[in-house]
Amino acid sequence: MSLAGRHFVDLSEFERSELRLILDTARDLKSKQKNGEPHKLLKGKSLAMIFMKSSTRTRVSFEVGMTQLGGHALYLQPSGTQLGRGETIGDTAQVLSRYCDVIMARVFAHSDVTELAKYSNVPVINGLSDLLHPCQIMADMQTIEEHKGKLEGLKIVYSGDSNNVSNSIMQGCTIMGMDVTIASPKGYTPSEEMMKRGDKLAKQYSTELQVVNDPRGAVKGADVIYTDTFFSMGQERDKEKEKALMKFQVNRALVQDANKEVIVMHCLPAHRDEELTSDIMDDPKYSVVFDQAENRLHAQKGILALIV
Ligand code: CP
Ligand code: NVA
Repeated sequence: MSLAGRHFVDLSEFERSELRLILDTARDLKSKQKNGEPHKLLKGKSLAMIFMKSSTRTRVSFEVGMTQLGGHALYLQPSGTQLGRGETIGDTAQVLSRYCDVIMARVFAHSDVTELAKYSNVPVINGLSDLLHPCQIMADMQTIEEHKGKLEGLKIVYSGDSNNVSNSIMQGCTIMGMDVTIASPKGYTPSEEMMKRGDKLAKQYSTELQVVNDPRGAVKGADVIYTDTFFSMGQERDKEKEKALMKFQVNRALVQDANKEVIVMHCLPAHRDEELTSDIMDDPKYSVVFDQAENRLHAQKGILALIV
């Protein structure tokens, strides 16, 4: 099986065997890096990284990942490039494709990254859009597998605002055979379109996908509890939404209602004591948040090595 030349924009475009290949490659590259074994699979290759939003993990892990693979990464922002002066995404994609071997983009509108992919002659990676965050979920699944030894048959509960991260969980975790529950307040549940796509995957892979409004009931039997910020980048803070979401906070009481061996995840950056209490985030019995952050590096190296 080869993923050469494929865009990595939306997990629902991948089969289980393809995501499995990425996870296995990521694990292999991680062990090579830990053992000091050279793995310069992308010698002389260049990655263009377009950031329309802020980033710590995505920026650093992609740049370091390319260095470890023997290649090079360029950090591009709208201010400082002609994108900020109105050059179209399509034209930018065609130009970057003439210099670079792969493009990564973090955008607001998801259509911006699909537009890039449409006009690019080289693979395009979605480094987060308002709709999806596929690289994050690959790192998360690598982390779950490291801690639990498997993915299939586990129950993951996402408690909080339905957003790009929960949308990608509904896709990636379902494809890999996990049962997914999204616990969100009314008004902040996944869109109809995302549910339709999630339900289709759940049917195809014989898993359970549910959306509920009660976090305490949801976490019964959970192997993984996941949360993310109440307000994603580009969203205004809003008192009413904050009040509704505080009931979905991941705290000790919630965690104690799950399986004894539950792990707690967050893509970071966290807003301590909002969506996740500090005592849980810092509790090594539960929290794997920094393993997730580390695995961004390894998972993305897997993606890069396979698609470029
Ligand atoms: N989780 C994540 O994507 O982090 P950054 O916004 O720091 O890249
Ligand atoms: N949902 C968050 C994820 C940040 C990595 C956001 O879009 O801001």
